[in-house]
Formats: sequence, structure tokens, C-alpha cells
Amino acid sequence: MPRGPVPERLTWAVENLGLTPGDRVLEIGCGRGVAVALICERLTSGTVTAIDRSATAVEAARRRDEEHVAAGRAVFHTAALADSAFPEASFDKVLAVNVNLFWARSPDRELAALRRWLVPGGALCLCWEPPDARRAEQIAGKVSAAVAAQGFAAAVRVGVTGAGSRLVCVRAQG
Ligand SMILES: C[S@@+](CC[C@H](N)C(=O)[O-])C[C@H]1O[C@@H](n2cnc3c(N)ncnc32)[C@H](O)[C@@H]1O
Repeated sequence: MPRGPVPERLTWAVENLGLTPGDRVLEIGCGRGVAVALICERLTSGTVTAIDRSATAVEAARRRDEEHVAAGRAVFHTAALADSAFPEASFDKVLAVNVNLFWARSPDRELAALRRWLVPGGALCLCWEPPDARRAEQIAGKVSAAVAAQGFAAAVRVGVTGAGSRLVCVRAQG
């Protein structure tokens, strides 16, 4: 079980990934490592690589998920997505939650890299808990168009937390 409270958006986001136990997963903007713990619980032979540009967040995530790091299931790197490099077809699934670069500016360069790093048919889930319905629609529209422009097939999924917050996920298949 992950330590401490688990925001509903992260449980929902991880469910949207549709993990299988052998998946190799990349999380972008992992924060304090809460979603990484949820992902590790669903893996057997699979692994998760998590990046965040904040060294403070990565330190906290390594502490929180130390058992998964020790078991070789989780690896954390302090790095911005734009400065990261992985071999082609390194991952089966990619997740980012509440990482605004994908809608706040053009994410073409980052999405092109993610398409290379994903296996053909791999899934990219870009999820948010937006402050209101208008922002949710704006995000869904912008992100769907951006992933489609990189050759992904996109589907928008929406949800609501128990407290009534909206959730939106653009699930893109390579
Ligand atoms: C709002 S927090 C979300 C953390 C976690 N995903 C969650 O939903 O609780 C956004 C995180 O993404 C990281 N981040 C933002 N832009 C990034 C980028 N371009 N590359 C890597 N990490 C990034 C931030 O440092 C921060 O930890």
C-alpha cells in the first residue's frame, strides 16, 4: 500500500493506463511518487521510470517508494522532459498527471519524443484534475489535437471525484 493519502485523481489516472504486470512505464512529473507506488503494486516483472524536474520532489519520491527502488521496480531521475533521452521503444505506457506543459504551450517536441520512446501500440495517458468544466474542455481539446498531430489515436475520458472535482484524461495510442 502507498504511504499516506492517495488523491483520487492518481488512482483514476493509473486505472486509465490499463496496466499489465510486465509493462515498462514512464511517469513524467511524478511529484512525491504516489502514482509510482500505485503502479508498482500492479506490476510483477514490469518496471517504472519516473522523472521530475524538481530535485526536492524526486528525493521525497525516492524515500516514499524506497521498497520499490530497492526491489529494482522503480527508478527516479531529476530531469525535465525536454532534457530526457531514452532509447526507442523503451516503454509500453506513459503517464503524466497535472503536468501543464502538454496544454499550456506547444508540446510538439515532447510528444514526438514520447512517440519514439513508446512501443508501437503503446499508450500515453495525460490526465488532469482541472479547477472547472471550462478548463477541462479547454485541456481536452488542446491536448487531443496535439497528440493527433503527432500521429496518436486519441480518446478523451472524463470522471468526477467523490468530492465533485472533474477529472480529464487524454488517452493516446501510438
Ligand atoms: C502539479 S505537480 C503534479 C504531481 C503529481 N503528478 C500529482 O498529480 O500529484 C506537477 C509536477 O510535474 C513536474 N513537472 C512540471 N513540468 C515538468 C517537466 N517539463 N518535466 C519534468 N517534470 C515536470 C513538477 O516539478 C511537479 O512535481
